[in-house]
Amino acid sequence: MNLEINAVLSPGEPLPEVDIWLVVDVLRATTTITTYFENGGRLLLPCATPDDARALRRELGEDWLLMGERNALPLDGFDVGNSPLTFKHDFVCEHPHAIMSTTNGTGALLKAMKSGRPVYAACARNAKACAQIALSSGDKVGILCAGRYGMTALDDSLCCGLLVDRLMRLNGAALLNDGATIAYSLWKRAAENFHATLCQAEHAKLLLELGLTQDVAFCAEPDQSGFAPALGLWGEHPAFIHNLETN
Ligand code: MLT
Repeated sequence: MNLEINAVLSPGEPLPEVDIWLVVDVLRATTTITTYFENGGRLLLPCATPDDARALRRELGEDWLLMGERNALPLDGFDVGNSPLTFKHDFVCEHPHAIMSTTNGTGALLKAMKSGRPVYAACARNAKACAQIALSSGDKVGILCAGRYGMTALDDSLCCGLLVDRLMRLNGAALLNDGATIAYSLWKRAAENFHATLCQAEHAKLLLELGLTQDVAFCAEPDQSGFAPALGLWGEHPAFIHNLETN
């Protein structure tokens, strides 16, 4: 297949026409979403703002888990923050329906959804799984990085490079846009030291300062999950819905 990979390294950039979007917020939103479904999640509704999330919980009911963060810290009135390590199997089975809002990740997911193309939550842990699904969706693959406060972020760019690597390993040669070339070069330089390089990112440093060392380590483990959560609609709500095709 004549694979074309278009990486958008910061969320403010215009989105090119592609067949599928892989959205990356490796620290931690897309890692958390992947883990949530891997451990039994059934529905997860991403919201752009905390107030949207709070309003949606009032609408849907108290049995919906309210999860998310701003600046890495849990939000007032939310049930939990955004650590993927929170979502162990027993906890998720008690909370199979969730509403989520994060600083950068949920906004990027909703932006990609406006393209009308399939959107998947991508991270290091499900990189190969996402590459496999992307290649079955067409020959133009987009990778959108959530970045940080509208700017390019080292962590997501590095994870983007990992996704480019997995796509090229599965497909062979590919035509890369400049964003994908930059990300791939970053990955190749760091490949043997992915975790250490990830720790150099501004957001990783903030997580480490907050004592969330295990979160960063967990997010930095490539190809540990076969789940690639797909963003669709539940009624009129954008939603990740557990189905067989995501694992
Ligand atoms: C984000 O959306 O920027 C991340 O999810 C932040 C985090 O979880 O610390």
